[in-house]
Amino acid sequence: MHDIGHLLVPGDDAGHGRTGAAAVRELLGTRVARLVEPHVVAKRYLAATDSQHAAKLSASSRRTLVSQGGPMTSTEAVAFEADPEFAAALALRRADDAGKVVGLAVAPLEFWRPVIERVAAAQPRM
Ligand SMILES: [Fe+2]
Repeated sequence: MHDIGHLLVPGDDAGHGRTGAAAVRELLGTRVARLVEPHVVAKRYLAATDSQHAAKLSASSRRTLVSQGGPMTSTEAVAFEADPEFAAALALRRADDAGKVVGLAVAPLEFWRPVIERVAAAQPRM
């Protein structure tokens, strides 16, 4: 779900986290949106603080990192570390990057439908 913003606004590498968060908020809730939005920020954080992680970024991620603001400054990193969803955002980002392996065998999208439906069903409706 975290990269749905790429499908909704093609080419907006810097804004796809915000676009995706806005798109999933009503269906999947605030917490999912709060994790979708900062996955770009988490990439910038890891690029600044984890040289091993940064070295493993895909070619595409390295290219888009520039348009997303580049590695965080130390001031930005300290502010991000104070985010209540900091650890979860980093976990999502690491999973995102770990999945960027050409030819990796993964479950089809349909495999995740029951999980998405359970999360959606648990959200309060207005
Ligand atoms: Fe992304």
